[in-house]
Amino acid sequence: MGSGNTILDAIETKKFGGELSDGLIRDVVEGYALGKVPDYQMASLLMAIFIQGMSYAETLALTRAMAESGETYSFPECVDKHSTGGVGDKVSLTALPIVAACGAPVAKLSGRGLGATGGTVDKLEAIPGFSCNLSEEIFSRQVEEVGLAIVEAGDLAPADKEIYALRDTTGTVDSLPLIGSSIVSKKVATGAGHLLYDVKRGSGAFMKTTEEARKLADLLVRLSEDLGIDASALITDMDNPLGSTIGNALEVRESVLLLKNEPVPDDLAAEVRHVATLLLDLKGKPEGADAIENALSSGAAYEKFIAFVRAQGGDADALEDLPVSAEVSEVKSPRDGYVARFGASDIGSAALALGAGRAKKGDRIDPGAGVEILVKPGDPLEMDQPVAHLYGEREAERAGRLVLKALEISDEPVEPPPVILDSL
Ligand code: URA
Repeated sequence: MGSGNTILDAIETKKFGGELSDGLIRDVVEGYALGKVPDYQMASLLMAIFIQGMSYAETLALTRAMAESGETYSFPECVDKHSTGGVGDKVSLTALPIVAACGAPVAKLSGRGLGATGGTVDKLEAIPGFSCNLSEEIFSRQVEEVGLAIVEAGDLAPADKEIYALRDTTGTVDSLPLIGSSIVSKKVATGAGHLLYDVKRGSGAFMKTTEEARKLADLLVRLSEDLGIDASALITDMDNPLGSTIGNALEVRESVLLLKNEPVPDDLAAEVRHVATLLLDLKGKPEGADAIENALSSGAAYEKFIAFVRAQGGDADALEDLPVSAEVSEVKSPRDGYVARFGASDIGSAALALGAGRAKKGDRIDPGAGVEILVKPGDPLEMDQPVAHLYGEREAERAGRLVLKALEISDEPVEPPPVILDSL
């Protein structure tokens, strides 16, 4: 970057709500990635952005600068999907092998979980030997040969990695332009040509209301389109966990059931099929629904998953009976009624307390820990009926209290809430 005053110019401009030029944004991002801009100045700028916001033009310039801060790949024929983070969200683990089996190649970038929301890399690492740490050459070859590969950020968009870590410790994560630019920069650097964003809304998501989720979805699609990606988005419910399991090995086990066409909860089955249909649509394959059912009933989707697990070093034989914690306890319903809600936020916190996630970066996770919920919204309940199994030896009592706090019981029958809230 040019003069040492560039960052100060940016802070002074943004402090008063002014507009940062493309060049200034690029210089600051480059300077920070090279270690020339210190954390305290970058943190000051991020807080000014958090308070004053950013115009669309600034957000686009920030996204581009972060995308171009490291290596960039190009997979114009491939699809990717991104979830803004949820509790029990195993849609990537399931919808992607399905679409790959239907002939849509997948080149996906994934991340780790933080706090109560899970990450696909942690889930896959519950499979012994599995690694998402792939070089570009291996990633590319696997996309070509298997039609499905998942890589961890590594050298892609390194500026985002640095800035995200700083945001995490300076109260500047929940800013729309910063979230939008962070997500899209990594996707642009990974290079898939077709992208579906699954924006979660509800207690277990970043975005608490459908309105907020719609704003983020709009921004993600607009930034992606302006940076050359064919993108669409949907908004899905995250007031309740998706499916019945929360925790890494538990979620892989549930994904295996779905891929083997065995019964899973309706919300998960419906969302996976919807996402797979939209991904096939993006690739210009409108006959999606039939192809998806075929891939599931013929075993092709599960075979694709096995080939992908093997290619990334995982022990596919372990998939049939992936180990989970031997320490299991049960939570029972305190009374009769109907399940109104099994709050995703508290269930996510319970899984975290059991060891399934990280309270802060670098914490060690227990892949076999988590929560299995035994009832879903709308189900009738009897007093003392088991409602959840807790797996894991850390803080099981606190986890049990959180699960009970999550369980809202109605005296009247309840309609299960819709899973898909909007598409754009
Ligand atoms: N996920 C990201 O990658 N970045 C954010 O800022 C928030 C969620």
